[in-house]
Amino acid sequence: MEVLSIKNLSKKFGKKLQYAVHNANLSLEKGELMALVGESGSGKTTLLRLIAGFEEADTGEISINGDKVVDDHLNIKPEKRKIGMVFQDYALFPHFTVSENIAFGLSKKQFPNKKERISEVLEMVGLKSFANRYPQNLSGGQQQRVALARALAPQPGVILLDEPFSNLDAVLKDQVREEVRNIIKKAGATALFVTHDMRDALSSADRIAILKDGKIQQVGTPRELYEKPRNLYVANFFGKINAMNATAADGSYKLKSGTIHAVNPPKNGELLIAIRPENIDISLKPSTDSFEAKVVLAQYFGDHQQVHADIGAEAHIVIHAHEKILFHKGDTIYLTFNAEKIHVLDTCWYPGLVS
Ligand SMILES: Nc1ncnc2c1ncn2[C@@H]1O[C@H](COP(=O)(O)OP(=O)(O)O)[C@@H](O)[C@H]1O
Ligand SMILES: [Mg+2]
Repeated sequence: MEVLSIKNLSKKFGKKLQYAVHNANLSLEKGELMALVGESGSGKTTLLRLIAGFEEADTGEISINGDKVVDDHLNIKPEKRKIGMVFQDYALFPHFTVSENIAFGLSKKQFPNKKERISEVLEMVGLKSFANRYPQNLSGGQQQRVALARALAPQPGVILLDEPFSNLDAVLKDQVREEVRNIIKKAGATALFVTHDMRDALSSADRIAILKDGKIQQVGTPRELYEKPRNLYVANFFGKINAMNATAADGSYKLKSGTIHAVNPPKNGELLIAIRPENIDISLKPSTDSFEAKVVLAQYFGDHQQVHADIGAEAHIVIHAHEKILFHKGDTIYLTFNAEKIHVLDTCWYPGLVS
């Protein structure tokens, strides 16, 4: 069942030329945890605030649990939208205890027995013995869980979390990320969380939506976005990728310096192909499909080496090498591209990013 539906949603602030959110389409299924990623200023917070009703859309539609909350003639108030919000700084009431914070959003009508519901959600977030504490006497991770409990308590249709992990240090972050995911899953909640960190998105989300300049570039599972990015922007957001101009002909990709067999031959023509550094084999001996290359930089990282090499005209290929041998600048090496992992990118958007 579709719990959140966004159609052609746009928002421009004041007299700005650029849209903060431009023609966004997004759909969340019941129980789904989606990450909204993008660099700073890409429109993540604005999209979240539009869904919550803290900003008014210029055009477009939003439905929650099948009920329209925004269209050309409608703009339902935030408190009537069945949305739970977890803010970046948690926004707990400092003079309220944990229980009182959670009680705040609970109506007598929906929960005649408030105490029971508070106890249920405290159990869910593992803070039963903290019910009477004040927020300042809790760790960052615990405050985060109180904010989550407060958002979950009224059983909203969707929970929105803005940068939920950005105030936590790296060690705590790994742990809290897992906890937050487990709590949301256990509650059966549907949630959309904003993050600028691709690691948060890849490791926690069921699906990811990636924004650039207010436009959604791609929506898919972490694996789809990492392995089959639609364009170079998406590809680079999730880590290093080698992009090369190629000509597709006779079931192969022809590069200036050689030919790579295509596993799923595309239509003949000019293409932009891409391959991640871990999908290139490196050897000191040539083989039938290998490209001769010259090492220009080799960096040792303990568990792998990052080797930068030139293969004739296709300058600067980056390879992750796990071999025991250490590579050095000036070495002649032989590269074999894992043909199955070559992916064709869309050049319609951001062709200027090709280096
Ligand atoms: N209240 C506002 N007034 C004017 N411009 C805004 C406002 N909020 C956001 N913007 C602009 O909208 C764009 C998207 O911002 P934002 O949604 O905060 O991005 P993100 O959360 O991805 O960093 C930016 O260019 C930002 O300057
Ligand atoms: Mg933001």
